[in-house]
Amino acid sequence: MNSKQRLIFLGIALILLVLVGYFVSGNFDFLLNDFWFSSGFLLLILLSLIDQPHFSKDSNVFVNAVTAGISLLLVQTEYRNWLFFVFLGIVFYLAISSYILMWIRNKSLPKENSLTRFFSKLNREIGKPETLFSAFFLWGAINKFGINSNAFNALLIYWVLFMILNIPQIAKIISELFDKKENVKQENSLGLIFGVQSKNTLLVKLSVERKEKISLFDFVEFVYSMDDEKKIRKGLILDAYFLNDQQWIKVLTTSEIDNLFDKNNDIESFTKDVVYKIKEKSKTEYLEKFVGIIAENSTIEKIKFIYNSKITIQEGQLLEVKIKDKTIYYQIINGLTKIEQLENKNETGLIVGEAIQLGMWEHEKVRFEPFGWLPEINTPVYIASQIENKEITSEELKIGQIPNTNFPVIINKNLALTHHTAVVGVTGTGKSIFSRNLIREYLKDDNVKVICIDFTGEYKEKFNDLKPATIISDENTQKLYTTFEWVSNELEKFPNQQDKDKLKKADDFIKTTLSDSLKSFLEDTTKKISIFELPDVANTTSILEYTKQLFKALFNIAKSDRCFGNKICVVLEEAHTVIPEWNFVGVADKSSLSLLNSIAQIALQGRKYDVGLLVIAQRTANVSKTILTQCNTIIAFQEFDKTSSEFLANYFGDGIAKILPTLKFRQAIIAGKALKSNVPMIFEVPEILENDNQTISDDENNVNHENSNDE
Ligand SMILES: Nc1ncnc2c1ncn2[C@@H]1O[C@H](COP(=O)(O)OP(=O)(O)OP(=O)(O)O)[C@@H](O)[C@H]1O
Ligand SMILES: [Mg+2]
Repeated sequence: MNSKQRLIFLGIALILLVLVGYFVSGNFDFLLNDFWFSSGFLLLILLSLIDQPHFSKDSNVFVNAVTAGISLLLVQTEYRNWLFFVFLGIVFYLAISSYILMWIRNKSLPKENSLTRFFSKLNREIGKPETLFSAFFLWGAINKFGINSNAFNALLIYWVLFMILNIPQIAKIISELFDKKENVKQENSLGLIFGVQSKNTLLVKLSVERKEKISLFDFVEFVYSMDDEKKIRKGLILDAYFLNDQQWIKVLTTSEIDNLFDKNNDIESFTKDVVYKIKEKSKTEYLEKFVGIIAENSTIEKIKFIYNSKITIQEGQLLEVKIKDKTIYYQIINGLTKIEQLENKNETGLIVGEAIQLGMWEHEKVRFEPFGWLPEINTPVYIASQIENKEITSEELKIGQIPNTNFPVIINKNLALTHHTAVVGVTGTGKSIFSRNLIREYLKDDNVKVICIDFTGEYKEKFNDLKPATIISDENTQKLYTTFEWVSNELEKFPNQQDKDKLKKADDFIKTTLSDSLKSFLEDTTKKISIFELPDVANTTSILEYTKQLFKALFNIAKSDRCFGNKICVVLEEAHTVIPEWNFVGVADKSSLSLLNSIAQIALQGRKYDVGLLVIAQRTANVSKTILTQCNTIIAFQEFDKTSSEFLANYFGDGIAKILPTLKFRQAIIAGKALKSNVPMIFEVPEILENDNQTISDDENNVNHENSNDE
């Protein structure tokens, strides 16, 4: 019973008692003079006003006994028979013994002895208001009116009604009649708001009397006294824990949660600061999006959030957070467990996730724009919703999407080609298949020609359908090799023994042969791609020399003839074999170094003349940094070694580079100039089917292909 119900109960019972009293005695004198009335009145008061609904504590027994003792003094001397003294004795006994019991128990003995418990129980039975004052009331009534009188019978009926029919219950029903809503509400009440952690989360102390069970992610509602305007707020239970032997819940309240529910609630039925459970069917759509709340130490680039969700999330997952009315996207890069100390020795375990900012999504531009501020603490974090598809231009290419979303990751093909791109990752991660797909996309541009330096033999087979051209005829290749070998032998002689004329002729032959062959390849519109493979010669020096001369010739043509209006992509597959890092090259290996230099020249200046590199390597450590650092776009698949991580951290930033070792199959990190959104991000490469005709399983990519074909 709440206090309101108790008052109603007292009122009803008292009016009835007075009416019965007036009826049996014909006047109101009994109000002041009669013992039966005063004990009946006290019975009502004690039962209804003092909270002793189920059992009386020692202190209650003491109060009851003292009250009873005082009321016995009202009994006029003529009625003080032996029973009076028995009552007086009992009352004395109760007062004294319960006082002693209180005193003993206050000393909080480790183990109560059974005698104490026995007396305490006994006292509670005798000292209950209904026992003690019922006896007084009936005795008083008999004394006053005699046992066979109508008056006594009337009072007896009153008492029977009162005790047996359980008037408190009737009072409750009556009060519910007047106040139906409030009581239904009362049933759902959970506890009281105790504190605010920040504007969005509240601490609620659960009441012991609550009838409703609670579980995490239940929805609740309340009217908060600190709100300026009176309104019903809705919330979500995020956490439940024990603290100081009490149960607490943490409630998140946001306008998003408010908006999940209809607004037709009756504010009057709420008691301020009492939190009520909402029994409506759970809003599962919301819970399927809700990830957690922003935690401390977040920054503009990187948010930290407390994971508090029904759903599972993972690295690479795209999240959205509302800052004012803007939606800002973040990508998960890390998570760690944490223990938070509560008071006393209680503690609670949490998972704190980390996500880097990708920015605002500009749908028209199909890209992320950086956002210059961060969300407040406790702001809810959600899984990003899907977006509408948007067409991209033929110059652009969707290379994949953000994991588990339909946010496209788009690069500008032109920039990727001319400003050099590197694709790195350990073996088997899909570098080559990705690069070949990219090359096919490059080739959709009529003015693009591709020269692959592939010593693995893989490309010849995979590009079979494109009928790769041979830049230099087999016959010439053979001639060139013989020349290289002759030249290298000749150069080993002392200068005075060298045949200068023949050397000059050989040099001219090499240059013109390579230059002419390249020119005819570039001018021939039917030839798009050429694959330069490991020739059938054992002498590596010659191979390197040959390659070097080829690049030199290419660079010269690029400079003088602008590649005849073409853009040229030079693909360096297994780049460490072609452009090894300085440390990895034997000092004596001059030809290797000069090859490196000729490629470095393209790397440094190539873009001015529309010659770009596509560098494919397993480890960044053993590939020339002179060339890698010129790659303005980097796509990194899984990498384990520390040097690669450190090198890539320069491009991606520390946080995101850390996840290189845990990237999943077909996932990569991209950053750089060609990437349309100017922030590094984790993306997922669609499944690429390399058959006779190139197909990509991803639907949108097909749309994209059609686009470019239309052109
Ligand atoms: N996007 C993808 N779609 C379909 N299959 C893929 C994809 N990525 C990788 N694979 C599979 O993984 C295999 C290895 O890919 P790939 O040859 O490209 O690896 P790599 O990184 O070039 O390895 P290595 O460094 O050893 O050359 C492919 O044969 C293919 O079966
Ligand atoms: Mg490969």
